[in-house]
Amino acid sequence: KRVALLISGGGSNMVALAQSMTGDHPARPVLVLSNDPAAKGLARAAEMGIPTAVAEHRPFKGDRAAFEAALLEPLLAAEPDVICLAGFMRILTPDFTGRFAGRMLNIHPSLLPKYPGLHTHQRALDAGDTEAGCSVHEVIADLDAGPLLGQARVPVLPGDDADSLAARVLVQEHRLYPAVLRRFVTGDRTPVIL
Ligand code: GRF
Repeated sequence: KRVALLISGGGSNMVALAQSMTGDHPARPVLVLSNDPAAKGLARAAEMGIPTAVAEHRPFKGDRAAFEAALLEPLLAAEPDVICLAGFMRILTPDFTGRFAGRMLNIHPSLLPKYPGLHTHQRALDAGDTEAGCSVHEVIADLDAGPLLGQARVPVLPGDDADSLAARVLVQEHRLYPAVLRRFVTGDRTPVIL
């Protein structure tokens, strides 16, 4: 199985996923694609010997369709079986998500369906939640809303701020996403609950 990974920043989830695809794992990373040429994950992917590409969103301003056409070019050229959004921070149109229905995954730093969108950790703290976590889901047209493929929980601790909670959740993201991908490529859609 050929896996393309889309990033926007540090790419720590991409690294965790790429490092998991070894040995008897049926999948291999074939492309790391970023919307930002400055994404630190691009250098990390290159160090791992994974082909990289950039499709900048800024030159296209509000023209989402044109940006996605630029994104699609290297993506389709890589002929991926599965696409993992890993810290990818652009909203995709229904046309784009529809092209990869059933084979595009995303990791989101909340216990979905709670807190779709941004600033998830601050929202959990503001709500006084005693638990937080991360979710992996299939990508559909609606943001952060597709079928759940995995979830991991962490405690919210006294004195937590958004950064300390984010750091605790990120550790679980790096466990959850590889576990979900491993199960996903076998065709099993049973959610991974860590
Ligand atoms: C992570 O919190 C992830 O959940 C969110 O982007 C953040 C950074 O991810 N989608 P990464 O280090 O770039 O993988």
